Amino acid sequence: MIDRLYLRAAGVSVLLDLRDADARVAHWGADLGEQAPDPAFFAGGTGASSFDAPVTASLIPQPARGWRGTPGIEGNRSGRSFSPRLVLQDARTESADPAGSQRAVLVFTDDASGLRVDVALTLGADGLLLVDQSVTNTGTGTYGLDVLDATLPVPAQAGESLDLTGHWSREKHQQRRRIDQGTWVRSGRHGRTGHDSTLIIAAGTPGFGWRDGEVWALHLGWSGDHTSRVERAGDGQTVLAVGELLHSGEVALAEGETYVAPTVYASYSRDGLDGMSARFHSWVRARDGHPSTPRPVVLNTWEAVYFNHDLGVLSELADAAADLGVERFVLDDGWFLGRRDDTTGLGDWFVDPDVWPNGLTPLVEHVRGKGMQFGLWVEPEMISEDSRVAREHPDWISRPDGRHGRMSLPWRHQQVIDLVNPDAWAYVFERLDALLSEYPIGFLKWDQNRDQLELGHDGRASTHEQTLAVYRLLDELRAAHPGVEIESCSSGGGRVDLGILGRTDRVWASDTNDALERQSIQRGTGLVLPPELIGSHVGPGTSHTTRRTHDLSFRAITSLFAHFGMEWDVRTLGEGERDQLREVIAFYKANRDLIHSGRAVHVDRPGTEDAAYGTVAHDRSRALLAYVVLATSPNETPARLRIPGLDPDRHYRVAPGLPVDPHAVAFGAVPVWLKDAIASGEAAVVSGRVLAEAGLPLPALHPEHAMVLELVAV
Ligand code: GLA
Repeated sequence: MIDRLYLRAAGVSVLLDLRDADARVAHWGADLGEQAPDPAFFAGGTGASSFDAPVTASLIPQPARGWRGTPGIEGNRSGRSFSPRLVLQDARTESADPAGSQRAVLVFTDDASGLRVDVALTLGADGLLLVDQSVTNTGTGTYGLDVLDATLPVPAQAGESLDLTGHWSREKHQQRRRIDQGTWVRSGRHGRTGHDSTLIIAAGTPGFGWRDGEVWALHLGWSGDHTSRVERAGDGQTVLAVGELLHSGEVALAEGETYVAPTVYASYSRDGLDGMSARFHSWVRARDGHPSTPRPVVLNTWEAVYFNHDLGVLSELADAAADLGVERFVLDDGWFLGRRDDTTGLGDWFVDPDVWPNGLTPLVEHVRGKGMQFGLWVEPEMISEDSRVAREHPDWISRPDGRHGRMSLPWRHQQVIDLVNPDAWAYVFERLDALLSEYPIGFLKWDQNRDQLELGHDGRASTHEQTLAVYRLLDELRAAHPGVEIESCSSGGGRVDLGILGRTDRVWASDTNDALERQSIQRGTGLVLPPELIGSHVGPGTSHTTRRTHDLSFRAITSLFAHFGMEWDVRTLGEGERDQLREVIAFYKANRDLIHSGRAVHVDRPGTEDAAYGTVAHDRSRALLAYVVLATSPNETPARLRIPGLDPDRHYRVAPGLPVDPHAVAFGAVPVWLKDAIASGEAAVVSGRVLAEAGLPLPALHPEHAMVLELVAV
């Protein structure tokens, strides 16, 4: 058999060493050139007291191959066959699609353990590497699978790790550590992706930033339980690994049965985090079904009226929204049977005649009559103990000990409906299908508002099956109603991953609309998701989650670099606020093509308390940046802004994109170019080289204020 496979695209090389009927990743990182290097060249020596032959982590690390770290596959047949030794049977490359992806396809077997493992490594034209793995029970009797992770090596110079964490209203915060010997594990055991889910596990050269340093990162496209780790073994080998976290006894493969692991996405960059994100963003954007229409301006009713549904009030809200330029009006929680607060009704997906005596039609027609699309909130995976459906079908509640066993702890007064039960699944499908058929609904805000720690179906752990049942529900509804867009909300950003995004069109990044909190939440979410998939709404002046008060300009600019909307009783705006909001909405509409298609850039601003980020058009003819002051500056005057990504040989007109909020500017500290631009509307004209190398002088802004910079090539 061949001794190597070599994939190469967009500055990335992957070299597989196939000697010894094994597969080892000899290199995943920067391009090594056209010729596939000889894998034998990479073989190291052995330790003084060690195996007789050198050991390098296999693609699926196994003790049988000498790996002393965490194995990539684990399982057993009633305690036997506990240590598989996978033998490579077949390896080939194929061209995966016309866009230029290449794929390495590998087949391993272990006759003694009765296993077949299939692995496909697909390197996209954008350099993103996808790892798909499955294991099949080819032996006699049941094989209990405990682990099937994807593991990739990173070189020793990757000395610092990055992962994300958080909680409700504070998602996607970054944490860094030095990589020492040992294992740093981030597991998600929420039955959903989780507010603290890490989104990526990354390792990089120490101090890697937005624009500098080498970075290797993995993301797991899965919405159930999961594990991510960075591990440095005693011999110094360092790996990143991610996989589904399986519960005890959850995957029992019958003879001939296959477990398919969720897809793993691996991004390498030599240009810091922006380079890493760019590969994710371009892969996501090239997917079938990526939203291709302009992302409509949203008004969501939640923070405007909460559960107080009233046709008159909501019609007025729709009028005020339409007047501002809103394009999608979303009726949030509170419309279905008995749902006057969060203690009842989930599962009873019938319009409540007490609140909506004529159904939703009068509101839907009013909204559509104003030229807006109508959207509706649902939470299909849940069931209130106090609901008609729970009273009629108590066995539809997912329980750890069988259909009539004890229930899990309630959370927001709700339980999970067992979608692995075909009758429960069919009921939920029928209800949603009926609603989508009866009303011209263009958008569903699909919520999921609780952790699910011990999901069970007929007495067995069912997180895996429940996750697949949710996917199937989404897939079949989309097939039946292809025009409907769906948002993944999970008490805010509790379900943000490329698994759910395979069947949804955006995420609700957080339940907090506090613009300061949103700055870090959106920065973290944007590491994998491009801005058009990140829902961000302008809330009331004082945030309902933090009681912080922010000027409208800061709130609006924060939502601008995302999928823009509002969640606010816009009937109550003052005239000034209304004009300002109208202006921002018009600006969003004029620039969303750029924000939602360009290359995301972030500026490293060491030693400052500010941030600058935005979008540069792929042809580098335009750019939009937000300059945001997060806290009081340690320096009297801000450091100049070195703007990345521009064409050094072109000149750009530089001007504020939106009028600078006079409240934002501290004590008249305005640089000359900006003073001129404000006074006369005359933009400065500066070369991309000067902007990148010397930088743009910035005004001193008060903390928690922002401005937008617009750059247009002349
Ligand atoms: C969750 C969502 C909110 C809102 C409420 C409604 O908390 O994240 O945006 O829809 O549910 O109950």
